[in-house]
This record gives sequence, structure tokens and C-alpha cells, in this order.
Amino acid sequence: MAENFDVLLDRKRSDSIKWNVFPEDVLPMWVADMDFLSPPAVIDALTRRVGHGVFGYAAEPEDLQEVVIRWVADQYKMQVEPQHLLFVPGVVTGLNLASRAFLSPAEGLMFQPPIYPPFFEIGRHTGVESHTVDLMRNSDGFYSIDFEALEKGVRPNTRMFLLCNPHNPVGRVFTQKELEQIADFCLRHRLLLCSDEIHCDIIYPGSTHIPVMSLGNEIAQHTIMLIAPSKTFNIAGLGFSVMIIKNEEIMTRMKRTFSGILPHPDLLAVQAARAAYLEGKPWLQELLTYLKGNRDYLYDFVNAEFSGISMTKPEGTFLAWLDCRRMPFGKDPFTFFLKNAKVGLNNGIDFGLAGEGFVRLNYACPRSVLEEGLARMKQAMKGM
Ligand SMILES: Cc1ncc(COP(=O)(O)O)c(C=O)c1O
Repeated sequence: MAENFDVLLDRKRSDSIKWNVFPEDVLPMWVADMDFLSPPAVIDALTRRVGHGVFGYAAEPEDLQEVVIRWVADQYKMQVEPQHLLFVPGVVTGLNLASRAFLSPAEGLMFQPPIYPPFFEIGRHTGVESHTVDLMRNSDGFYSIDFEALEKGVRPNTRMFLLCNPHNPVGRVFTQKELEQIADFCLRHRLLLCSDEIHCDIIYPGSTHIPVMSLGNEIAQHTIMLIAPSKTFNIAGLGFSVMIIKNEEIMTRMKRTFSGILPHPDLLAVQAARAAYLEGKPWLQELLTYLKGNRDYLYDFVNAEFSGISMTKPEGTFLAWLDCRRMPFGKDPFTFFLKNAKVGLNNGIDFGLAGEGFVRLNYACPRSVLEEGLARMKQAMKGM
């Protein structure tokens, strides 16, 4: 490997959310960013731009659309045109603005917990109803979509379906068949499909990411897709993401909702995104090999050393979803590990009631850090 993902970085004094929320003695393994350097091409592009020393209002780099179009074609075998692209500072921003553009307060958004917590916030911000239908958890811990429950859960005022694929926190990469069923469900119930695909580049062998929008013209006309280089290249602190909208009317409405609200593009964020998509692919390939090693190490460790805790191997993302419900501390494993192991995880309950008794562990860190976190957790459970 040309890249060395084993290097330990000191992020404590770098204004990092991940490293500053918990006390100094806690090892943070929560929020979804990585304890790795970004690709050298990104660092070079930013250094060059900062070196220029003038930071006035920015325009998008001339070839940015072309670079994104090429990335989408290479990665997901999907053709898009410049007029289908809308750049926004963040995926969560995009999801909230899509809800504001297309839903009025008495209408509903459907999504499938356990799920990334900001999905619940959209309704709380705007008065829109959250029509949730939990994913189905099979006896082996593998999650799938409960299509019967979706049919029962859809209401006359449900207007939008928020898909999370790959799914955070359960790590599923939905199959073509599942996505076809989701598309069919949305079309039959006239739901606008808003598809958060931010984790779509972190996919392990055996799975393929398929954008739901790529399944045919009809569903493409009813879908808003969101992607970003932020998870892929560890540039989440540089707000840049991409909305892909093929339907002209939806695009016009979305742009109207944005006008006067979204700022000019962040000049560093666009440089980072451009460099990442243009030159980051070899780095990403090495990252995926490293993350797969961490995923497999974690899975083997949990199976061998954590009796009473289980997980399935994530098909995508760098997040593991640990089922602790059989442990004596099963109601609140987050607090148990924080207090007794000094490991800061995500609390499963924040992902919806279906997450009670679970924690989410971010394994995008040097292997030695993962080993340290797991050793601390094992020690805390000694004798249980
Ligand atoms: C599913 C999902 N969507 C969106 C985001 C955040 O996106 P952004 O930082 O671009 O708002 C995350 C971050 O963890 C995520 O997991």
C-alpha cells in the first residue's frame, strides 16, 4: 500500500467534534468521520488554494460539473447531465430543504428506523409528520425491508420516502430487487423518493451500490438523489454535496427553495471536492482494503470475545451496529461503555426506539486504535 492508514494522528486540538465531545480519557468511536488523513491530492489542492491568500466570493471551478459527472458514470454506471446537478453544502441541508420544498406541515415523510438521527429532526424542524416503519431484523441479525409493513404504514398524507442506502447504522447495501420494490412502492403511492446515498463509495466485496434513480426513467423522474465526497474522502468538515435531480420541475422548485438561503460555494470545499473526485480513486481503493480489514477484525473479535453481543458484517459504511440486548447493561450499553470502558460510541436509541440496546461503533481508525477500543470494552465486561 502507498498510503499508511496505521499512522496515529492527534486530533484533540484540531476543533474536531469527534475528539472534543467526550472527556480526554475517552476514546471516541462515534460520529462518522475517519481518523485518517485525506488523500494527498486533496491536501495539495487545498494548500495551493490557501497559498493564493485571497478568499473573495467564489465561483465553482469551471470543470466541477464535468468531474462529478465522470465520477457518477465511473462509480455507479449512471449518466447525468450538467442540468441535473445542484451543489449544496451538506446532505442534511439537502434533505431538510427538499422536505420544505415539497411538503406542507400536515403532510408526512416516511423512513425506516433504526436510522441516522437527523432524519427524525426534519419533521421536528418543520412540523412535517414522520411516518416511520422499522426495518425488519431477522433472527441472524440481518436487516431487510418489511414491504408488508410499508404498505400498512403509508398514509393518505404521506408524500415523501426518505431512503438511506447504504443504510446507516445497519450497514445494508440494498439489492437491485429491494430497490425495485422501493421504486414500485413510491410510484404506486405517488411518493417523492429522496435518496440519501452519502455512504455509496464505501462498499465491500460482494455488494454493489445501485442508485435507485438508475432503475428506469419513471423512478428517475420522481427521485432526488444525494451524494457527497465527504464520507468517502474524509472531508466532512468542508461542506459540499451533490443533489441529482432529473425532473425539470423538481429541479426548478428545489432551486427556488434554495435561493437566498444557501451561501456562495465555499471556495475551499469545492477545491477539495474537485481534487477528490478527479484524483482520489487510487486512495479510495486502498482505503477500502484497510476498512475491510478493520471490519473483519472487529467482526471476529466480537464473535470470539464478546459473548452476549452480536453484529453482522456491514456490506457498506464504516459503521458497525452492535446488539447488546442480552447483556446485563442491555438497556443502556452506551452509558456502560462510556463509564466503564472509556469508549465513546453512538447511543442506539438516538436512531429510534428500534435502536434500544444497540450501540454504533465507527471503525474508520488505525487498527491499533480499534484494538485499543475493543480491549477496553472487553476489560469492562470481564466476569459478566
Ligand atoms: C446517512 C447520512 N446522511 C447524511 C450525513 C451527513 O451529511 P452532511 O454532513 O453532508 O450533512 C451522514 C453523516 O454521518 C449520514 O450518515
